[in-house]
Amino acid sequence: MQRHFPPHKLAAILASHADPDIIAALDRWMTATDATVYISRLWERFAPHFCKPGKTIGRIQGLEDRGARLQLGESPDRFEIWALPAHFLHAEGNFQFYDPVSRILFSGDLGASLGSGLDPTRTVTSLGPHLRYMEGFHRRYMVSNKVLRWWADMVSELPIDCIVPQHGAPIGGAAVAEFRAWVRTLDCGIDRFGPADYRVPD
Ligand SMILES: [Fe+2]
Ligand SMILES: [Fe+2]
Repeated sequence: MQRHFPPHKLAAILASHADPDIIAALDRWMTATDATVYISRLWERFAPHFCKPGKTIGRIQGLEDRGARLQLGESPDRFEIWALPAHFLHAEGNFQFYDPVSRILFSGDLGASLGSGLDPTRTVTSLGPHLRYMEGFHRRYMVSNKVLRWWADMVSELPIDCIVPQHGAPIGGAAVAEFRAWVRTLDCGIDRFGPADYRVPD
């Protein structure tokens, strides 16, 4: 970030959810910048636990479940970032952030890829060969297919040039539509759990 602008110019800190790999470094962001943190209302009272006492006072903006078109920055440099509902994908209160100018969807953990052999610096334009880096993660971390289908319907309304997840490679070109189609068919989370998964261990 510091290669592009000084930290005090940072307009906002956007937290898709409250996992440690998202905001465990919040204390340092609070020190280095003056920015407000935007996060689901569900996590508003948890975020301060990542910081020294009092450090987040007045600097956390809880987002309602329906999301918002956030007006950020100061005139004449104001701009919009849209907080899109992505609840249960994977956290209970979960947002993705869409930039209507670059048409990039910052998708949090949805679309994440991991594993050896993956090159996170290369944008994926064909989903097939990439699925092996995504499948295991999505089957366990995404909560249900029902929610994925609603998500796919929502983002179908948006022009998206690139989906940038929090982990692994960006998804661009034809792979954007392929990813939407793939998640529609994916059994995941509670779809795959049953009584056998809830037994007192031997
Ligand atoms: Fe997460
Ligand atoms: Fe993550």
